[in-house]
Amino acid sequence: MQRLTSIAELRRWRADARRAGKSVGLVPTMGALHSGHMALVEAARRDCDLVVMSIFVNPRQFGPGEDFDAYPRDLEGDCALAEAHGVDAVFAPATEEMYPHAAGPLIVAGRQADMLCGASRPGHFDGVLQVVCKLFNLAQPQQAFFGQKDAQQVAIIQTFVRDYNLPLEIAVIPVVREADGLAKSSRNVYLSAEERAQAPAIHAALELCRMQVQDGLGPDAALRAARMHIAQHLPGSRIDYLELLAWPDLLPLADDTLQCIALAAVHVGRTRLIDNITFER
Ligand code: PAJ
Repeated sequence: MQRLTSIAELRRWRADARRAGKSVGLVPTMGALHSGHMALVEAARRDCDLVVMSIFVNPRQFGPGEDFDAYPRDLEGDCALAEAHGVDAVFAPATEEMYPHAAGPLIVAGRQADMLCGASRPGHFDGVLQVVCKLFNLAQPQQAFFGQKDAQQVAIIQTFVRDYNLPLEIAVIPVVREADGLAKSSRNVYLSAEERAQAPAIHAALELCRMQVQDGLGPDAALRAARMHIAQHLPGSRIDYLELLAWPDLLPLADDTLQCIALAAVHVGRTRLIDNITFER
């Protein structure tokens, strides 16, 4: 596995792949890798000749007071895991390599970023689009792989790719969970033992919401039941949002909506966890 840190090295690696006639799959990450990230790698290996993974904790998508400094970093461990899973190249640039200039043209994520995570993290998705756009231009992948775990991120990136005619395909991989239902996340390491034991209540609440909707209950009643479940099983937590929307456009449910998504962001102690499930009504 090649370890690339400069843009020039990545460009050379990409040019070699082109000369060899190989297709490239990109897996963008912020590191602290777990089996959720590895599911993206597995899909990329199936679909593409070569897989490049980026590992970059992107400062532009963290707001003031968020966990940029505390975000778990383990480049050596990440590279070992990536190599064991057949990643061909890791691109792990320094911040100055990606952002040599303080200010510049910005990308504004737009309407889909006004709600859910975007409402409590203003500018977050602008920063995501900025780094993802740079990575797309550098790696020039045929396909880029993203997790359904970050459903709003996926929706915003798909809109960006479509509206700006970017020449690549976005592949979306289902949420990978722990055995008890908790969605795998690099941030799970922040949880205390007690918080970790209670955290599966978020997924259970989303499932409860799904069952209520499929049983014919209205969205408000289903969401009420899900909120109650979290209040009972995750005492001391604070719900940032718990919503039921149409998928993939993230619009309010209409009478004829078939594909639904139930999404939640919950503060558990000092950790903010997100999760979602998609289902048919
Ligand atoms: P990060 O949180 O490291 O996640 C990298 C990719 O792994 C994302 O596409 C995310 O949705 C996916 N992922 C994480 N946990 C997952 C799980 N349990 N199941 C399935 N997929 C999972 O998302 C980011 O980084 C950043 O915003 C990034 C896109 C890299 C831009 O900086």
